[in-house]
Amino acid sequence: MAFEVEFEIAKTSARLAGELLCHATEKTVLSAIDHDIKLDLDIKAEKLILTYLKKLSSFPVLGEETGLSKQIKKGEPYWIVDPIDGTLNFVHEIPFSSVSIALWKDDKPIIGVVYDFHRGEMIASLKNKGVFFNGKQLVPPPKVAIKQAILATGFPSYLLHDTETLKSVIDKIKKYKKIRLFGSAALSSTYVALGRVHAYFEDSIKLWDVAAGIAICEELGIKTHYTSIENNEFLYTVEIKNLE
Ligand code: IPD
Ligand code: CA
Repeated sequence: MAFEVEFEIAKTSARLAGELLCHATEKTVLSAIDHDIKLDLDIKAEKLILTYLKKLSSFPVLGEETGLSKQIKKGEPYWIVDPIDGTLNFVHEIPFSSVSIALWKDDKPIIGVVYDFHRGEMIASLKNKGVFFNGKQLVPPPKVAIKQAILATGFPSYLLHDTETLKSVIDKIKKYKKIRLFGSAALSSTYVALGRVHAYFEDSIKLWDVAAGIAICEELGIKTHYTSIENNEFLYTVEIKNLE
């Protein structure tokens, strides 16, 4: 079956990285520049995932910490890895971060795996096979009117924090009943699929933060819209809406 093997590989590597992170006692900060933060555990967890992926698959890997392993050819699937999405939460013991692994081809998702290692919640999708929450198949959540809807959003590290940009975010969020800023784009986008929130939006977000969440939502038939930002490698504007 198409990509069944890769699906298992993705789930196992996410679980392995999650275990490493769960049991970590030392969290050494390597850098904390502007709105971003890097830990030694970001690197360690990515190395663990890459070792596992590369042992069992020859596809190129785009990792947040290590970049692109080799050139992606047209029509060739590629892994997209974020070893810790929500690093700032993780370092501050806010239990809201996850491992995110996706397989994409030609800018379209095939597999998405988001593993919330704090809660042991694994959400995984395989194209044309469905979405699974800890192994149990999910059905699409009911759509909600925008006035009743919760929007999960954030202020990504690469977003310009100037008045004009922040005003455009305010214009968007005021249409919704409430907003939530969880600090993990992978979980925020995946929560739309779980029906915990009803929409997700972030401007200037890196692909590895949202690649798995987009895959999961698309597989459930939820409307996603993502566009790459010109001259900014792997930077996207992403909107996911499960609205009436
Ligand atoms: C961060 C989270 C956060 C988003 C930031 C990202 P990271 O990812 O996804 O929700 O707003 O822009 O950088 O750096 O913790 O992998
Ligand atoms: Ca990360």
